[in-house]
Amino acid sequence: MLDIAPVADDFVAEIVGIDLTQPLAPEQEQALRAALDQYAVLVLPDQPLNEEQQLRVAQIYGPLETSVGTYTASDKKQRRLGHAQLSDISNLDETGELMNDTDIRRLVLLGNQLWHTDSSFKSTPASASLLSAQEVPPVGGATEFADMRAAWDALDADTQVQIQDLIAIHDYFHSRSLLGMEAQVIPDEWRARQPPVRQVLVRNNAYNGRRSLYLASHIKAIENMDDQASRALLHKLMAFATQPQFIYRHRWRANDLVIWDNRCTMHRGTNYNQKYRRAMRRATAQDAGPTISTQ
Ligand code: OGA
Ligand code: MN
Repeated sequence: MLDIAPVADDFVAEIVGIDLTQPLAPEQEQALRAALDQYAVLVLPDQPLNEEQQLRVAQIYGPLETSVGTYTASDKKQRRLGHAQLSDISNLDETGELMNDTDIRRLVLLGNQLWHTDSSFKSTPASASLLSAQEVPPVGGATEFADMRAAWDALDADTQVQIQDLIAIHDYFHSRSLLGMEAQVIPDEWRARQPPVRQVLVRNNAYNGRRSLYLASHIKAIENMDDQASRALLHKLMAFATQPQFIYRHRWRANDLVIWDNRCTMHRGTNYNQKYRRAMRRATAQDAGPTISTQ
């Protein structure tokens, strides 16, 4: 059965004793779901998954999303990966060679280096993400995870009361604009597909009753708050929630599978020299529904 070794109290666990290349028994699936509810980040080393095996594992967490990368500016191009449900988290082009410097996909990829949670810019956001590493750079390119339950717990009571019922506006193009993506390079069709959405700022975990901050660089404003107050509050919460005591840094090895719960964590990629290849792919499960019933 699963051998689970917590890295910290209840944030991040390493798991061995399971072969994800093989079909799983119902009790193994249940154990993986329960482990994610408890720890929020799971690290499973030595899982050399092919695309189909990765998708099969991901499905235990819910129906899968279609990657936004399949309909971005690179639309008309072939993809490196064979399935629309897999996001290409690599610096490789469709032929498997390093992308050239001007490839717009580089900017999309760079967005992953801002603190975020996956698909919070969709009205039904992501629950679990499963990122599988095939090739990793010899230095750099770690991924950091921040525990939004611990961050909520550590907030002072006044702030908790102030923010608990607030609603945030998440916009995919806001995080792109932070990186200098000019509005005019974004095709209308792409923009129309991803309008801003409303999300609660504080979430509840149905499994254990814990609350968590629901933050991301996709947030452009807090509803019903003037722009200055909204920016100041977001800056304060982001800075607070990403302090070192809430963070785990994952140094990748090839064939690592890392699973995280987007409902109660943020993550970001870290820099690496683009002369090195980094090949990863992500499968993403959808949450049960929107965080707010009316958009
Ligand atoms: C992701 C992501 C960060 C990284 O796959 O969702 O944000 O380090 N990845 O590649
Ligand atoms: Mn991400």
